[in-house]
Amino acid sequence: MIVPNLHYGELKDSYLFYNIAQKVNNYLSEHPDAHLLRLGIGDVTLPLCPEVIKALHGAVEDQSRKETFHGYMSECGAEFFREAVKGYYASRGVALEADEIFVSSGASDELGDILDLFSPDSTALVMEPAYPAYVDANIMAGHKLIRFPAGKENGFTPLPDESVDADIVYICSPNNPTGAVFDRTKLKAWVDYANKKGAIILFDAAYEAFIEEENVPHSIFEIEGSRTCAIEICSLSKTAGFTGTRCGYTVIPKELSRGGMCFNSMWVRNRTTKTNGISYILQRGAAAVFTEEGQKQVKENIAVYKKNAAVLMEALDRCGIPYYGGKNAPYIWLRCPRNMGSWEFFEFLLKEAQIVGTPGEGFGACGEGYFRFSSFGSPADTVLTAKKLVDLFGNE
Ligand code: MLT
Repeated sequence: MIVPNLHYGELKDSYLFYNIAQKVNNYLSEHPDAHLLRLGIGDVTLPLCPEVIKALHGAVEDQSRKETFHGYMSECGAEFFREAVKGYYASRGVALEADEIFVSSGASDELGDILDLFSPDSTALVMEPAYPAYVDANIMAGHKLIRFPAGKENGFTPLPDESVDADIVYICSPNNPTGAVFDRTKLKAWVDYANKKGAIILFDAAYEAFIEEENVPHSIFEIEGSRTCAIEICSLSKTAGFTGTRCGYTVIPKELSRGGMCFNSMWVRNRTTKTNGISYILQRGAAAVFTEEGQKQVKENIAVYKKNAAVLMEALDRCGIPYYGGKNAPYIWLRCPRNMGSWEFFEFLLKEAQIVGTPGEGFGACGEGYFRFSSFGSPADTVLTAKKLVDLFGNE
């Protein structure tokens, strides 16, 4: 008899964003004319920048001619793509070899797939509140979980606890959902912890392009000692609006080994077996993000989202609602007003103001009483959301 992966039985019934989408669809079926202000899932609303579109069109043309046509691509990434990412890291003083960079179809896919490299009896430490896929992917893999609470007392960026033994440590900075960033000192403490314990840090850098403070590290590889204990997973979804286009990259240094096994070689073995890579067309579009013009254009789009965050923060200030994030990240993490629970506040905003956000409890039990707004909505919807918030809570 076939035995299914029984760990699926340990998962919550449905995934957070799927659950929210169902609630929103139910609301819309009862109120078909409602205009919803969607500040829930972090999905971008601006189109791809012209430099990327030009490269995509050029690549389609390449595929139309015998002389420039590409069949299978290298599973780990086209040389031109790996060189483009290498140049981007070099511009921030991080030296990588091109074959330490692997193309991917985005961070969420990769954060789950990478668990193939770890033994089923691994223990994963997840700092909560956290992107829920970390927890779910580890449950599916049968890993033990340590839920490590992060709270306002440590700025949502806790330090390691030497008495805790983990094999895999997730760090997301800038953080989803709290918008907090780990400074160099805190990252160094985690790097030292991982090297001492033989653990591996999975560093989720999906939001690095939103960092505006000078001294905040964009990459774990800016920290001394990280090449022997970290894998970095990044995505162009939020940096360059690729949520529906799909492309990202993963960095695995060649020094990273455990039990005599080199993780870079293992990932080459994994990718060459389990994928045929990412399409030539997409990799050309993605490489264009790292050109001078591409960087200028993606930064213009990010500036629009940052303006949205400023509009929301101003409204929250006027309402006296405490919040975190919004500065180096596209998320604002706020205390639910009137002591509401996070799902209660979700229902309240949906019904009273047609605003969709994300309940903090969906990111872990310690997120109860908090709520997340995304700044990826349209500027017009964001302004309207801010106005409705002030109308609802401005006099309290
Ligand atoms: C989020 O809203 O947390 C993210 O957009 C989800 C994702 O990147 O998959």
